[in-house]
Amino acid sequence: MNKRRAALAIALAVILIVIAFLFLLTRMTGDSEKASSAPAAAGGPEVTLRNTTRASVSFTLKPEDSAAEPKTRRLDAGEFIRIPASGSMVLTYRERIMELTYVLAPGKHYAFRSGENGKIEFWAGSHGVEGADDLAPFISTPSDVVAKMLELAEVDADDVVFDLGCGDGRIVIAAAKDRGARGVGIDIEPERISESRENAARAGVEDLVEFRCEDVLRADLAAATAVTVYLLPRSLALLRPKLEQELAPGTPVVSHDYSIPGWETRRVREFKMTASDGREHTILLYRK
Ligand SMILES: C[S@@+](CC[C@H](N)C(=O)[O-])C[C@H]1O[C@@H](n2cnc3c(N)ncnc32)[C@H](O)[C@@H]1O
Repeated sequence: MNKRRAALAIALAVILIVIAFLFLLTRMTGDSEKASSAPAAAGGPEVTLRNTTRASVSFTLKPEDSAAEPKTRRLDAGEFIRIPASGSMVLTYRERIMELTYVLAPGKHYAFRSGENGKIEFWAGSHGVEGADDLAPFISTPSDVVAKMLELAEVDADDVVFDLGCGDGRIVIAAAKDRGARGVGIDIEPERISESRENAARAGVEDLVEFRCEDVLRADLAAATAVTVYLLPRSLALLRPKLEQELAPGTPVVSHDYSIPGWETRRVREFKMTASDGREHTILLYRK
């Protein structure tokens, strides 16, 4: 009798263990479904907003096609956010007495930037990479200024020219085409890199140039024998320690329009020219 009871108890225990195991298994399967659906949701349409200024900025946001009250949001200095956006969004912020309104397109990236006289400006064309500094919006250097930058750096066929934040690739393409140099263009925007590669192929210099989609502040610059930059002053200040650590002594560094903070003693030349766009441009030549 005791033996029968013991056998019954063991059978019951086994059944309970199996039930508990099956229950846990369903819970785990449910969790893994949730986890795998998360990236799809995060990868949906969105806009990114970045505050590159040194102050926090308040603004309101609402879907363009909605009658709902706009929501007030705040971005602290340096903060980056992703906002799910299945359609256009309307962003409004106050700049002194002006109320400024922008329509944001899904899939695009935007930034608040410091303008003249402490004004806060809103720009399209920031990059959407969290944790990487936004060193400048995409604005091209006019071709005649590019030619002068390469001339001042005395770029020739022995050089490897690195353009940090290469935009459409025009500087390294000109270095290859006009001076026979090799070139490396680095930009964080995949769109810019595709455009640069297409432009290099069109110019017939794809064997001399290479384009890398990466953050300039994390890139390896050791192979550069000449460097060009068209970046905002604060970004040049961030870049300076890297130039000091990685470039060989004497490497020319040519900056379009903005001086490199802390490199006053390394400045070799400052050249001003009125370019084809009718604007006066400054080219600064430094030597590491
Ligand atoms: C002012 S444009 C200069 C384009 C080109 N060098 C020229 O002079 O025509 C600056 C470029 O820097 C890129 N950029 C901004 N932040 C960056 C980062 N952290 N790493 C790499 N590229 C960046 C932008 O995408 C943009 O194309």
